[in-house]
Amino acid sequence: MNLKKIKDAAVLIAFLAVMLWTSYGSTEEKEDKQIYIGVACYDQKDTFLGELMEAFKDECSHLEAKGYGISLTIMDAANSQRTQDDQVQEMINNGCDVLCVNLADRTDPSEIIDTARENDVPIIFFNREPVEEDLMQWNKLYYVGAEAKQSGQMQGELAADYIKENPSVDKNSDGKIQYVILEGELGHQDAIIRTESVAESMKENGVELEKLSYQTANWNRAQAQNRMTQLIGQYKNSIELVIANNDAMALGAMDAYEKLGITDSNYPVFFGIDGTDEGLEAVRQSKLAATVYNDKEGQAYAMAQLAYAVVTGYGMNNIGFENKKYIYLPYKKVTADNVTDFIDNIQD
Ligand code: GAL
Ligand code: CA
Repeated sequence: MNLKKIKDAAVLIAFLAVMLWTSYGSTEEKEDKQIYIGVACYDQKDTFLGELMEAFKDECSHLEAKGYGISLTIMDAANSQRTQDDQVQEMINNGCDVLCVNLADRTDPSEIIDTARENDVPIIFFNREPVEEDLMQWNKLYYVGAEAKQSGQMQGELAADYIKENPSVDKNSDGKIQYVILEGELGHQDAIIRTESVAESMKENGVELEKLSYQTANWNRAQAQNRMTQLIGQYKNSIELVIANNDAMALGAMDAYEKLGITDSNYPVFFGIDGTDEGLEAVRQSKLAATVYNDKEGQAYAMAQLAYAVVTGYGMNNIGFENKKYIYLPYKKVTADNVTDFIDNIQD
């Protein structure tokens, strides 16, 4: 081989090497710039969850401004933990980088945790809080939500303030407030704790209570209408106050009164939690006396920031954890006086 040939070959090799390197570099860069987030939702028909998912999609599109493509898959377990376990497996098989999990059964995350851990995929649980023992199983498990106790306390304070300002709530003037409570799912942290703390907080704020009854309506408007119709049948006009663990059930209770054609003067007062679109609208119209805002925008933002941070490694230090794993967004009180602030904020 003469010198020219050797030189030519060397140039060619160098050229090929550069080509290879750049093409390798660019695919690698493209791969690195894509984040795949897999979301497992317990039941997208749940009103609050549906709104939270919309807020999360918005937050993910804002994340793209940081220079990463986000691909998002949302799967709905329709309330079955088995289905959800399979969905999580599928998203992991498809190569997701991080999981956001809204457990169907909050006491049964072990299969999901094991699979994620084997594949080194971090999990951000949200809205349905696993017990602490489960969350401690691995250092890449997190929780984003809100403190149930705070929502019950605020709901109790709102009810107590309202009753003080409107003594006519005590329709039979016996000095006590006869009330019923509509509860979310059995075993859900928000149902158990809200029910407990709302009564405590009303008592602490000087309201004499008489609990007539309670019913479980699984966060659901139609079920609540049904249960409330039974309660009205049983207690007639003696119900003075309806406390619901969420807005959907408060609205369902109001549906029952409307459907039965009961006159307004015989209506009790209704209190909810969440500040869903319909809940806020009912507060604006003074049909719902008040609600407590479950900050879905804040939760969606925290989930998106945390997902980004655990995948890229950027920004983890700026996240305000409690106990290294938990992010709790504060609730806010909503009455007819400030409801437009919330409605406006959502429309922005
Ligand atoms: C609660 C919310 C309910 C329901 C439930 C589902 O935080 O107040 O309306 O969405 O979560 O887990
Ligand atoms: Ca009374």
